[in-house]
Amino acid sequence: MRMYDLIMKKRNGLALTTDEINGMITDYTRGAIPDYQMSAMMMAIYFRGMNEQETLDLTMAMAHSGDMLSLDDIRGVKVDKHSTGGVGDKTSMALTPIVAACGLKVAKMSGRGLGHTGGTIDKLESFPGFDTGISTEHFIRQVNEIGVAIMGQTADLAPADKKLYALRDVTATVDQKSLIASSIMSKKLAAGADAIVLDVKTGSGAFMKAQEDAIDLAEEMVKIGKNSGRDVRAVISDMDQPLGFAVGNILEVQEAIDTLNGHGPEDFTELVLTLGSLMLAAGKIAKDAAEGRAMCQKVIDDGSALLKFEEFVKAQGGDASFVTHPEKFPKASIIKEIKAPKSGYVQQIVCDEVGICSLILGGGRETKESSIDLTVGLVLHKKVGDFVEEGESLATIHANEAGKCEIATKRYLDSVTISKDPVSKHQLIKTIIG
Ligand code: URA
Repeated sequence: MRMYDLIMKKRNGLALTTDEINGMITDYTRGAIPDYQMSAMMMAIYFRGMNEQETLDLTMAMAHSGDMLSLDDIRGVKVDKHSTGGVGDKTSMALTPIVAACGLKVAKMSGRGLGHTGGTIDKLESFPGFDTGISTEHFIRQVNEIGVAIMGQTADLAPADKKLYALRDVTATVDQKSLIASSIMSKKLAAGADAIVLDVKTGSGAFMKAQEDAIDLAEEMVKIGKNSGRDVRAVISDMDQPLGFAVGNILEVQEAIDTLNGHGPEDFTELVLTLGSLMLAAGKIAKDAAEGRAMCQKVIDDGSALLKFEEFVKAQGGDASFVTHPEKFPKASIIKEIKAPKSGYVQQIVCDEVGICSLILGGGRETKESSIDLTVGLVLHKKVGDFVEEGESLATIHANEAGKCEIATKRYLDSVTISKDPVSKHQLIKTIIG
């Protein structure tokens, strides 16, 4: 098999065989295919797509590119959760301690920022000392002991996805249905959970902009999961504006902590409760989603979810005093208001543009080797449907370089449309599949 021939085959719109996909993934994982050829393949797939069989083959090849984790040593039903990625999506950080405080076993593998979206692993590294590279032994022991562990992709689990994820991030090949489905499902299958709850985003800040495409993606992932004997459910949720108010690593961690304290933004709290209720039902901790929701609310109200978060940060080597004292996190040096140019109702916030503002400020990677600035980002004060007076703050920008601050401010203002007529608020949960 020559990689050149496979690139040409896909470039010409032909389907790859199971053997070709297996060979390509094995060779790429062991370093026998250079990034420049794999980038060309990703771009060919981006334009030509993959059929159902190719997507399944790619998922299985990536899932088996390393070890398949057995979670049999963890007692109870193990439930994982994954989002297709969005702007201001700090869901896992609030959700996992909530469901763990309800008694669910959460063994979760997360990723770094991708394209214009942030990643849980980068956010967790805001805690000094937090180790996202724990061994699988540590991972399993921690889930057994405290009910929750989150690790980044190791060299052992779905290494092909780890390499492809980083490559797609910097080659504009993220937002393709088969590549997203195989990326998510390969690591979920390799990580060994019995049940998986997916948060599939739709809207301008999502990789799937149109709701029909998000539904197709969700159905594809549910099907892959079912073929592998896993219980998979998917929530289709709004990403036509940022989730919550905070966008940017440390700012989002602080908002997740506020939410665990019961003071989170309404939309974000609603999403956490919806996903939490499904996870508890899938894990047989709650008899149905309604009971699950009440359980999630209770552990927020009685403080046990926050305590679980502290326990989790500590178990992975992080400084848990930042959970009770989030003001200890470092701040950006420039904190500036973005003022509304006129009065009216916020009609639209072009969501991926807000993610790009955060990238411009330094919150995302330009190349695979780039490091990110955890302190920068934006805090929105007005969301779609809100009224704003001329000169009132639309958002606060957190930056460390004046030039970048200026560019991001202009871009943010260009992304917001203000109408003189009232505008209705977005519906957060569109539908649930599976
Ligand atoms: N999340 C993933 O893990 N992979 C993708 O491709 C997109 C979102």
